[in-house]
Amino acid sequence: MRDSAAGLLAAVADCIGPELAAVDRLFHLELSSGIKCVDALVKHVSRFRGKMLRPMLVLLTGKACGKLTDAHITIATVVEMVHMATLVHDDVLDEAELRRKGATINHLRGNEAAVLLGDYLISHSYHLCSSLDSQRASRAIARTTNQVCEGELLQIDNRNNLDLDEKTYTQIITHKTAVLCAACCELGASLAGAPASTVSRMEKFGLCLGIAFQIQDDILDILGHTSQVGKTLGIDIEKGKMTLPMIHFMKNAPHEHQELLRSLLSGHEPDQVEKIRNLILPSDSIEYARQQARQYTQQARKALADLPASPARDVLDAMADFVICRTL
Ligand code: IPE
Ligand code: IPE
Ligand code: MG
Ligand code: MG
Repeated sequence: MRDSAAGLLAAVADCIGPELAAVDRLFHLELSSGIKCVDALVKHVSRFRGKMLRPMLVLLTGKACGKLTDAHITIATVVEMVHMATLVHDDVLDEAELRRKGATINHLRGNEAAVLLGDYLISHSYHLCSSLDSQRASRAIARTTNQVCEGELLQIDNRNNLDLDEKTYTQIITHKTAVLCAACCELGASLAGAPASTVSRMEKFGLCLGIAFQIQDDILDILGHTSQVGKTLGIDIEKGKMTLPMIHFMKNAPHEHQELLRSLLSGHEPDQVEKIRNLILPSDSIEYARQQARQYTQQARKALADLPASPARDVLDAMADFVICRTL
C-alpha cells in the first residue's frame, strides 16, 4: 500500500507537479493576514499538510481533457480552501482534537476561533473564485458548499438514529463529501474547454470517487490507527453517526449481535469503540462496505473510458483505486 501510494504521488508530481506548487503558493498568498493572531491560525493549518486530493482532481481532469490554464490554478486553490473550511468546522462538530497529525483549531484555540477561521477560509474561497471572468465556477462552488451544509445537517438530524438506512447514508455522504469532488472534476474539465458530455462524465467520475472515498474514511474511523491516519478516530461511533459497516451489521448480523451493538451504541462505556470494533470485525459488514466502495470506484473508472489515453487519465484511474485502499 505504501509503495502504491508513493508510486501514485510520483506519477502526480510528474503530471502536475509545477501546477500543484503554484496552488500551494496561491493558497498561502491569499490567506495571509496582516493581523498577527489571524496569520498565526492560518500558519497553523498550513503547517499540517493534507493530501491535496481536490486540487489534484481539478488539475488532472483539466489536463486529461485539454490544456491547463491559470483558471485551473485558481479553482484548485479555491476547492482546497473550501475543503479546509469544512474540516475546521467539522472538527468543531466532532469535537476532534487531532487533524493531519496536528492539534485541531478547536482544541488549540477553542470553538469560537475555529468557527471564525472556517468562515474566514470559506469567504476567502468565494473572494478568490469571484476573480474569474466567468460566473460558472462561482455558481458551481456556491451550489456545492450549499450541498455540503445540507449533508452535514442531514447527518446531525440522523444522529443516534440506529435504524438509519443505506439510502439516507448515501445521501449524507454524497452531499457532505462527494459533491465537492464532483465539482472539482466538472470544473477541471469545463475550464479545459471539454464538451458538455465529457464535463458531465467527469462530474460523475468525481461523484463516484467521492462516495467511495467517504466509505473508506468511515471504515478507517472504525479500523484505522490514529498514528497512521493522523486524526482523531472512533468519532462516528462516539457521535452516534451510523456508517455503512454499522448499518449493514444492524440489518444482517444475528439478532443477539444486533442487540449488543444497539446497547453499545446507546451506552457510553469508555471502551465503547474498541468493543464495537471487536464485534463488527469478525462479521462480513466491513467487507460489505469495502465491496460497495469498490463498486463506486468501478463506476468512476468507467466514466473515464471515453477520454483519450494520456498520463493524466492514467493517474485519475489510479486515484480511483487509491481512495479505497488508502490508510490515511
Ligand atoms: C477528510 O478529507 C475529510 C473527508 C471528506 C473524509 P481528506 O482525507 O482528503 O483530508 P486531507 O486534506 O488529506 O487532510
Ligand atoms: C467529513 O466527514 C465531511 C466533511 C468534512 C464535510 P468526517 O467527519 O467523517 O471527516 P473526518 O473523518 O473528520 O475527516
Ligand atoms: Mg469528522
Ligand atoms: Mg471520518
